[in-house]
Amino acid sequence: MDLSLAKELDQKDPLVQFRARFFNPKNELYFDGNSLGKLPLEAQKTLDQIIQKQWGERLIRSWNEQWLELPKRIASKYATLLGADSNEVCIGESTSVRLFQVLHALLSSNLFPKHLTTDSLNFPTDLYIMDGLKKAFNIRFLNVVSYPSEINANLNSLKESIVQNPGIICLSLVSYKSAFLYPMQLLNRWAEKHHSLIVWDLSHAVGAVSIDFKKTETKIALGCTYKYMNGGPGAPAFLYVNKTLQERLSNPIQGWFGHQRPFDFDTNYVAADGIDCFASGTPSILSMAAMEAGIDLVLEAGIEAIAKKSKKQTELFINSVQRILTPLGYSIESPINSDQRGSHVTLSHPASWQICQALLAGGNSKPKIIPDFRPPHFIRFGFTPLYTQYEEIFILVNTLKSIVLSESYLNFSKKKTTVT
Ligand SMILES: Cc1ncc(COP(=O)(O)O)c(C=O)c1O
Repeated sequence: MDLSLAKELDQKDPLVQFRARFFNPKNELYFDGNSLGKLPLEAQKTLDQIIQKQWGERLIRSWNEQWLELPKRIASKYATLLGADSNEVCIGESTSVRLFQVLHALLSSNLFPKHLTTDSLNFPTDLYIMDGLKKAFNIRFLNVVSYPSEINANLNSLKESIVQNPGIICLSLVSYKSAFLYPMQLLNRWAEKHHSLIVWDLSHAVGAVSIDFKKTETKIALGCTYKYMNGGPGAPAFLYVNKTLQERLSNPIQGWFGHQRPFDFDTNYVAADGIDCFASGTPSILSMAAMEAGIDLVLEAGIEAIAKKSKKQTELFINSVQRILTPLGYSIESPINSDQRGSHVTLSHPASWQICQALLAGGNSKPKIIPDFRPPHFIRFGFTPLYTQYEEIFILVNTLKSIVLSESYLNFSKKKTTVT
């Protein structure tokens, strides 16, 4: 891709108008929307208004006037995005807490054998939560399926492991390291056939790939909303529990917001019906209010258009890397086939850490470029179709090239200091 092609692609991009709906820092290229999405301008306006009018002026009255309905309104928007019914999704807590709740509920339910399985591509918090539950439920071992490479799951090993250890499985639909994308429907069907259930962590997938819970026969899923959904730092997570399971699972964190009538202040806990029983404490209103602009933008743009542009951008980047950067020592650590990949591309290089520092520093009339580094030697580049421009991808490739050719990365220490 040369500069004129990149500019032409930007001009013809059907999503081009969405970039201006975000705050875009000057002289900076942002390729870390897979960790924390940019600030939607509408979120800033909403927060100003809520802080001033609802918190400042209306105070406690705002619960009845606006706040009690807020989690439900946002949940229903997430349900639309994910092909679920609005009474199957709730918003709140973090992904880690949601995972704990549903795994605990499943282990307590006797619906499935008490085996816990995950794989080595999963995110550490998922492994930690499962390890904790393994101890709490006295389960003999946590089955972590591992593969020869850190890029792809070996689906045959995973399927075989489910046959050997049927039970409760947790997978990240898009792996945080390599962006490997699992075939959701195929694995859900396999799990069901073998008396098992997969809990899907969609943190790296939602807002970047098209997901339909009905079509994929998904039963439980959750994920964070601060990456491609641009919900803001620490934005509340979403949780989906298929209707058929809701009455058979109970929330292990029996807080008052999950009570059938929280404002009766009854001394006995009576679980709310359906998905509402998964609420625990008071919703974090400011974070929830901030996250709404993000889901609104995704719904307005349409997930099909977003996913299409994601594939196009990641493919163009990978082609350029193959042509220009692999001869300079870079390797691609993500699946090449875009049907098996989410919206970030991971590279490695013997000098990954120093290259990352050089990107972040910018200079010599070059903009700062923000990727993220994951030990031991991965540099991840997130492509967020709502704001990533083709021209930025062109600049990224050329900067990666010139940092190595000019050896400017040698100006940076090999010692790892900050987390990016
Ligand atoms: C796949 C995955 N799951 C879970 C989390 C953590 O979510 P939370 O901080 O909301 O608990 C992350 C964070 O990056 C993640 O990438």
